[in-house]
Amino acid sequence: MTSGDLLGHNGDRIRPDRNLALEMTRVTESAAIAASRWMGRGDLKAADGAAVDAMRFTLSTVAMDGVVVIGEGEKDEAPMLYNGERIGDGSLPAVDVAVDPIDGTRPTAFGRGGALSVIAIAERGTMFDPGPCFYMNKLAVGAEAVGRVSIEASVQENLREIARAKRSSVGELTAIVLDRPRHEDLIEEIRIAGARIRLIPDGDVAGAIATAWPESGADVLFGIGGTPEGVITAAALKGMGGELQGKLAPRDEAERRRVVASGLDPDAVLSLDDLVDSDNCFFAATGITDGELLHGVRYTNVGAITQSLVVRSQSGTVRFISAYHRLEKMRQYHLIDVGPEGPGEAMG
Ligand code: FBP
Repeated sequence: MTSGDLLGHNGDRIRPDRNLALEMTRVTESAAIAASRWMGRGDLKAADGAAVDAMRFTLSTVAMDGVVVIGEGEKDEAPMLYNGERIGDGSLPAVDVAVDPIDGTRPTAFGRGGALSVIAIAERGTMFDPGPCFYMNKLAVGAEAVGRVSIEASVQENLREIARAKRSSVGELTAIVLDRPRHEDLIEEIRIAGARIRLIPDGDVAGAIATAWPESGADVLFGIGGTPEGVITAAALKGMGGELQGKLAPRDEAERRRVVASGLDPDAVLSLDDLVDSDNCFFAATGITDGELLHGVRYTNVGAITQSLVVRSQSGTVRFISAYHRLEKMRQYHLIDVGPEGPGEAMG
């Protein structure tokens, strides 16, 4: 028995001879295509609903016994893919599933870049349950800086350590930060330290993953984003060899009390293993709108082209997959609403 085995129904372990992430690529591709039909149309709920429906439908065809641990929560007010929902066809392996059918609902709806459809899978019982805590403070770095940073240290100290680890200087580092008023002080600290800043309007899953992808030019992600996104990011970074540290960030005293009542410690530093306690997890992301890491969904006269990032932690393999989808076939075999005729047709 190895730590890389998956748990079966009865506690037995079965070898993960399938790369579930490859199957998850179909899931994020379908959600990305469905969401992309709503790009720039200004309707957040419709975009999210289309992605959820497509993701849920494709997930139902996957041979696994999945439980949604991170679902479409309070934030997106979605009735499907809720926490606790069983997904897959019910056969082994038994897994936890974390979904974000659109990470970047606003960029999708308003035609801006960087939106992804993402999913993570890990052995049953290994994913962190964020409970009532909406936000998490995050610090993410790529492989070279693993073990060199601490979310409890100052921004300046962390930047200095990352620069040392990368044999670079702080002035050459690029920090990714969500563009939010809550980050004013953080941005000021990064400026004082002398690093460059890439402000992102949304999408801190992509922002964190970028730190582990050498060609992205990103060295660190700092700041507060969604807790569910933190868990999904952890699964990706496990496979990509990066590091994420998190600290729950309750919005007010009442939320802090609810967090404590749910058994979580709002002052604890959460490591990658705390967030996903498995060395055999899978992550897939497909671009919805164009981003620095992945192209968004593009249309030709025959169909849609998608680009996905697929990660398996056990092997550490990172794949970029381009796929060409014939929309007429998708209409035939999927319940995904890809429009009545061709990509140019308006949706109902
Ligand atoms: P959604 O598209 O799922 O709403 O998330 C987008 C996002 O930017 C996440 O990437 C990030 O973690 C979170 O929202 C930040 O929350 P907020 O917009 O409330 O600051």
